[in-house]
Amino acid sequence: MAANKRVLMLPGDGIGPEVMGEVRRLIDWMDRRRSVTFDVTEDLVGGVAYETHGAAISDNTMDLALNSDAVLFGAVGGPQWDNVGFDVRPEAGLLRLRKDMDLFANLRPAICFDALAQASSLKPELVGGLDILIVRELTGGVYFGEPRGIEDLPDGQRRGVNTQVYTTDEIRRVCRVAFDLATKRDNRVCSVEKMNVMESGILWREEATWVHENEFVDVELSHMLADNCGMQLVRSPKQFDVIVTDNLFGDMLSDVASMLTGSLGMLPSASLGPADGSGRRRALYEPVHGSAPDIAGQGKANPLAMIQSYAMMLRYSFDMSEDADLVERAVRNVLDSGLRTSDIMQTDMTAVSCEQMGEAVVMELDKLAA
Ligand code: IPM
Ligand code: MG
Repeated sequence: MAANKRVLMLPGDGIGPEVMGEVRRLIDWMDRRRSVTFDVTEDLVGGVAYETHGAAISDNTMDLALNSDAVLFGAVGGPQWDNVGFDVRPEAGLLRLRKDMDLFANLRPAICFDALAQASSLKPELVGGLDILIVRELTGGVYFGEPRGIEDLPDGQRRGVNTQVYTTDEIRRVCRVAFDLATKRDNRVCSVEKMNVMESGILWREEATWVHENEFVDVELSHMLADNCGMQLVRSPKQFDVIVTDNLFGDMLSDVASMLTGSLGMLPSASLGPADGSGRRRALYEPVHGSAPDIAGQGKANPLAMIQSYAMMLRYSFDMSEDADLVERAVRNVLDSGLRTSDIMQTDMTAVSCEQMGEAVVMELDKLAA
């Protein structure tokens, strides 16, 4: 069984190792209680990899990632690496994983648990029951476009250049993922770009429309400009079902959406590659939050985004929806019972550490599976 359950665990920097530790707890529980054994290998990424190998991810680790069935990723980065070379900065490790594994579709669900509607900076009635999914293109656009760089000009100034670039295929494949996921939800897709100022935005809108007309006519498609989408997300977020957008807009809009759920510490994500002949996809699962160096090592991190990323792994990489549901239900119940890490703390609730939150999820799993 373990042969097709090879998981590469990359905790990374900052709070990454802490939140990953709580996923370890869940994996051990699955092993004990559900007889599901993952073949787990742990390795370095980000700043810790730079310290050891002089690169944010080594070729050897990259090979392990390419040969695994799923990668669990914590977080990378920290102020101590602010001045290292651009190519070896911690974030470069994550970007290389995304690019070399061809993880073009990034799924970022923003779900507001009832228990957390009060923790959002928005009014509870705006966010209560929220369930939206942002599908972010992850291997193209301005993140990877050429030319790029900083050059010296003859007059002594410098010029920084990045390129926003998308092809037909890049747009169509991520839109297909979004439409397909919409059919399993409320059947609505909103495609987001800036076609009023960018040619790549005009192409994005045309190709999204092409996929709709040729392959998914039964799904409702609407279009929105990215700035308006940011505004609509805080004005009336429940109007959305699935949002599909490019790499940079997706990065920004998913951070906006995170606050609708109460905290950035609640948002999981799945990054998927193209399906091979047998329908399997390369995949990486990571919380949307970063390494949070300011609270690292203090037991204050919220492990729920990482734990929910693990649930997404069960669902998307291993076809274990029942177990994924179980983990998600345990998270919901633990929140209902009033336990809170500091990022989602509210009056009259019980403050817990990262570890206590992880333990509580496992205890809840014990109850649910009894
Ligand atoms: C994210 C992060 C990354 C990104 C950083 C860490 C490179 O913000 O996954 O949203 O910009 O994609
Ligand atoms: Mg981001």
